Amino acid sequence: MYNLIKSKSRTGSRKHGSRTLEVGGKARRMDVLINDPIAFMQGLINSGYTSMEDGDPESSDLMRSMQNPNGQMSKVFIEEDLQVMRDWLGAGCPIPAEEPPRMEVVSTHRFIHKM
Ligand code: HEM
Repeated sequence: MYNLIKSKSRTGSRKHGSRTLEVGGKARRMDVLINDPIAFMQGLINSGYTSMEDGDPESSDLMRSMQNPNGQMSKVFIEEDLQVMRDWLGAGCPIPAEEPPRMEVVSTHRFIHKM
């Protein structure tokens, strides 16, 4: 879920207007918050988007907004993305303790052997 939010943050930061999510007791703008996936996840939980009936991810407002044919997000997310969200909801919306490691190789090391 962290990586999904991160991958959509560029478009998402232009599309959420002045909508807000609650983080740390304050209403914070979604378009700014989406650049901080951990805070964004926390905001989705605090603002009730992850609440479910009978533990069914489809009953959450998060899945409803993603699949609302009149909304814009139904045109942005593919089935694999939706499954990432369902799995996150089904697992109880875990928040990573810290930023997961980046995927790319950040450095290579040349070993110089001294005889
Ligand atoms: C994983 C990333 C994202 C999450 C979790 C997310 C979540 C949400 C939530 C919870 C709402 C409020 C829905 C409501 O109360 O009706 C919303 C609204 C909206 N989002 Fe996102 N969003 C994400 C990325 C994006 C992206 C990439 C776009 C680009 C088009 C976008 C466009 C919108 C729009 C236009 C709305 C207003 C209502 C609508 O058209 O459905 N979002 N989003």
